[in-house]
Amino acid sequence: MSERSVGPAQRFVLAGAGNIGGVHAEALIAAGAAPAAVVEVDRARLDAFGEKYGIAARYTSLEAALDGEPGATAVVLATPPVVHREQAVAALERGLTVYCEKPPALSLADFDAITAAEDASAGSFATVFQQRYGSSAQQLRDLAAGGSLGRPVTAVCNTLWFRPAEYFAVDWRGRWESEGGGPTMGHGIHQMDLLLSILGPWREVTAVATRIAQPTNTEDVSAAIVTFSSGAVATVLNTLLAPRQTSYLRFDFENATAELEHYDRYGDENWTLTAGPEITAAWEAGRTAVASGHSAQLAAVLAALDAGQPPPVTSASARATLELSAAIYASAFTGSRVRRGEIAPGSPFYDRMDGGGAPWPPVK
Ligand SMILES: NC(=O)c1ccc[n+]([C@@H]2O[C@H](COP(=O)([O-])OP(=O)(O)OC[C@H]3O[C@@H](n4cnc5c(N)ncnc54)[C@H](O)[C@@H]3O)[C@@H](O)[C@H]2O)c1
Repeated sequence: MSERSVGPAQRFVLAGAGNIGGVHAEALIAAGAAPAAVVEVDRARLDAFGEKYGIAARYTSLEAALDGEPGATAVVLATPPVVHREQAVAALERGLTVYCEKPPALSLADFDAITAAEDASAGSFATVFQQRYGSSAQQLRDLAAGGSLGRPVTAVCNTLWFRPAEYFAVDWRGRWESEGGGPTMGHGIHQMDLLLSILGPWREVTAVATRIAQPTNTEDVSAAIVTFSSGAVATVLNTLLAPRQTSYLRFDFENATAELEHYDRYGDENWTLTAGPEITAAWEAGRTAVASGHSAQLAAVLAALDAGQPPPVTSASARATLELSAAIYASAFTGSRVRRGEIAPGSPFYDRMDGGGAPWPPVK
């Protein structure tokens, strides 16, 4: 294990020793910032995880870890979405930075409560949206911002994934109260976040959402038409019922088409660019063979922390993505077009992604 040589050391507490907790542990260890402590409510899982990753300090509650680890500077939340708000606020109230798995909260109301705690804290709140961090996405963002691609015109953002019924046997999955939604909140949100990170602010959305086949209360399919402040128009399709799984994004600018096809992690080789020689040369020159993934975002997070800056993805940026999910549900369940900013306190879709009830009976 290598020690990091620059900047103030960060001491991470890692909460949640499940599936993605292991991905975080490996990324932190590889970056020379091995977790100082791990938190997990399941005692057997806690000990197995501690043994596997060589973490001696083990706790069964975040509160106990915060009490027991006064030197901690940051908390990684790899816990189910239903506890993100409570755990994020607890850590921020102690002045710690929080690096939280997506979705950062179950609702915009919960997210704004976290932001209020962040505003009063010496710490920051960052969301894991690792698909922004592959080098081709970074390069496309830079070229788009620099203007050489011309105006963005249209985009396609498809998350066509498959999840078997067993996937939903895990108690917190498939319920509005604990997962916040289906693929619009949990899976396609990665691709939607990448879409927004490249095309900038969205303006309005018209959508449908439905549950066709899965044993869930949440949707298993959603489709949306999103208009951006730039005037660009994107279609967004999210499903967990697609036997041939793929994530497909296509960005058409006036002077170039960029396409990405992968599943949940891409390298430069998953992208194609159709453009003239000048843009193609700039595109190739700026790509540095960094794959998307937790390690890529963690590098940006550590660099920001070392520089005393708020780590990415910042609250303002992550909120735009969460608000798009909320707007897709609001449009789908009310049958109306939803403009950015409309889902505010007083709207049922501000407090819950399903606005108080999806138009199909619960099964879970
Ligand atoms: N960024 C990604 O690519 C990605 C991929 C998968 C999951 N996720 C997200 O990561 C989070 C966790 O997902 P997962 O698949 O690892 O789930 P999981 O069920 O495998 O793991 C969650 C763990 O948290 C533990 N836990 C529950 N409540 C806790 C509490 N109060 N304190 C401490 N531990 C607690 C559970 O016992 C479990 O071991 C979710 O928000 C999910 O959406 C992100």
